[in-house]
Amino acid sequence: MNSLNFISPQDVKDIINRKDDNYMLIDIRDEYEFNDWNIKGSVNVPINKYIASGEADEAKSALSSLNLNKKLIIICMRGTNSQLAASLLDEMRYDAYVMTKGMQGWNENFDIHEIPLKSAKNKQFTVVQFIRIGKGCLSYIVFDEYSKESAIIDPSIFIEEYINYINEHNLKPKYIIDTHAHADHFSGGKALEKTLNVGYYVNKNDMDKGVKINNINDNSDMRLGNMQIALHNTPGHTDGSFSLLIGDMALFCGDLLLPESVGRPDLARNQQETIKGAEKLYNTINSFILKLDNEILVFPAHYTSIEKRPVTLTIEELKKYNDSLTISGKQEFIGFITSKMPKTPPNFQTIKKFNKSGTIIPLDYAEDLEIGPNRCSSR
Ligand SMILES: [Fe+2]
Repeated sequence: MNSLNFISPQDVKDIINRKDDNYMLIDIRDEYEFNDWNIKGSVNVPINKYIASGEADEAKSALSSLNLNKKLIIICMRGTNSQLAASLLDEMRYDAYVMTKGMQGWNENFDIHEIPLKSAKNKQFTVVQFIRIGKGCLSYIVFDEYSKESAIIDPSIFIEEYINYINEHNLKPKYIIDTHAHADHFSGGKALEKTLNVGYYVNKNDMDKGVKINNINDNSDMRLGNMQIALHNTPGHTDGSFSLLIGDMALFCGDLLLPESVGRPDLARNQQETIKGAEKLYNTINSFILKLDNEILVFPAHYTSIEKRPVTLTIEELKKYNDSLTISGKQEFIGFITSKMPKTPPNFQTIKKFNKSGTIIPLDYAEDLEIGPNRCSSR
């Protein structure tokens, strides 16, 4: 057997972005796993079961119809069974590549977009959007162009992404902020606080009692350089959710409002609390979101299907794009949000427990528990 060829998730991302049709993405996981979460454009050839049971002939037979002229990128959940599949393909004279760490590696893959903005008072600032493409999570660095003071918002556990950016751009980190206690991914907030020696801010309603955090609410005073950050309590998705309005034109709203929907109000809540959460969402949207200027750009913490990059829409665009904003009656809204709730995120109780207690989780453990799609959206 020849030695195997490996390809990183980052290189796979580049192949997809440049629409390179010399390659074909073959996902060998079971059909239900593929249907639940996959890389757009990949093809499912579910031979995992044959590989696991040592049925090489069955696996080869399922693979034999693949195009010999393509370079095949083999994907499994963690990058192990794909190595066995690639060696079978090698015997069959295919040109096969193993995607390193499989879907787990895909889960840790980021696209970075820089959005330079100018406030009404002519202050220049930049929003840097970190798109975790495998999971649909969005996190941010915002910095004032003049002072280089910066805030990191909703950071993932992969804190090197932010630290590298900060170092490369000579930024001065001033705040690390979670808009709420996340349920579908571990927060990198506490680890960044320790590494950068910068305060971690979150609303205490979302944290366990006694955890050492800087409480943030609508009375907090935050600024980057001379630019004030306006803070708003925006409960619904969680009780402690809040939003930040920067430069009067960029709203960071966590999971309050996503491009396609609103943040689900049911996680870690019983049925009655879920309905109350949906009611709070309705009130927040009507008393806050719908009163904002139409030109304000909304930077959410998640997306599901939107293809626009960077992932941001104006309030005006959201009013057209997002069905949740077109419902005028409270009861109708609650029914709409709570009637068809998607599956809960895998391991959300463990993830939330860590985030609420401000515990820094070892990266290996976090990677394993976080595997799977984002499910913070109510639709
Ligand atoms: Fe969330």
